[in-house]
Amino acid sequence: MSTYIIGIMGAMPEEITGVVNLLTDKQEYTIGMRTFYTGKLNNINTVVVFSRWGKVAAAATVSTLILEFKITHLIFTGVAGAISTQLNIGDIVVANRCIQHDMDARPIMERYEIPLLGKTWFDCDAQLHTIALNAVSDMLANNRLHEIITTDELQRFGIETPKVLSGDVASGDKFFANDAGKHHLAEKLPSILCVEMEGAAVAQVCYEYNVPFIIIRTISDAADDHSAIDFPSFINSISGRYSVQVIRNIFKHIN
Ligand code: ADE
Repeated sequence: MSTYIIGIMGAMPEEITGVVNLLTDKQEYTIGMRTFYTGKLNNINTVVVFSRWGKVAAAATVSTLILEFKITHLIFTGVAGAISTQLNIGDIVVANRCIQHDMDARPIMERYEIPLLGKTWFDCDAQLHTIALNAVSDMLANNRLHEIITTDELQRFGIETPKVLSGDVASGDKFFANDAGKHHLAEKLPSILCVEMEGAAVAQVCYEYNVPFIIIRTISDAADDHSAIDFPSFINSISGRYSVQVIRNIFKHIN
């Protein structure tokens, strides 16, 4: 993959700072109120950026990665709220497909259909999906999280045997922080594993520019009445180190 230029995006500075520190030959560029860090990760040309939250921020950021930095592949790493009851805090979801749960142009279009694109679901790239799934499975099976997060810290978040699942991810401009909202989404989109605020926007832009992408999300909260407390504490103490380990392992699998 040495001719590749891989873009890595995250919506929170906590998730991206550690990844920026993995870069060698680092340079910084500011475009559209964002700092893009270029460099090499395991000898592969890489651009890392913190997008900020939401679909517009994510779409603007990935457009710059594609048009200015000419990325050939995109990896989004971040956190999500669990919708599936199979998921616990600290588990990881590698997305298969993404949907924008707040897109609703009825009665002109079907609910969730992206107007004039004729698409509702965006498929992640099959090759990146396999690489990410293997890398994350490997990382969890070999307890690599313990290399950077203490057992005490993991226990504090109830993270015992974190697992990886592959499936559908929903994105929209809404933070889910109550049981009613979660159940409503689960009823409307029963295949959804987790919810976040950027993935399907990144997916739409990557689809439009034909750039292969993958979305990887660590569960920070259960998208329920406890989210207002669980989310910030996970972000403050754990999520950055998860992202670093996920990215490190993916790049090991790419080489
Ligand atoms: N990202 C992480 N947790 C989330 C939640 N509960 N709702 C939306 N996006 C999230």
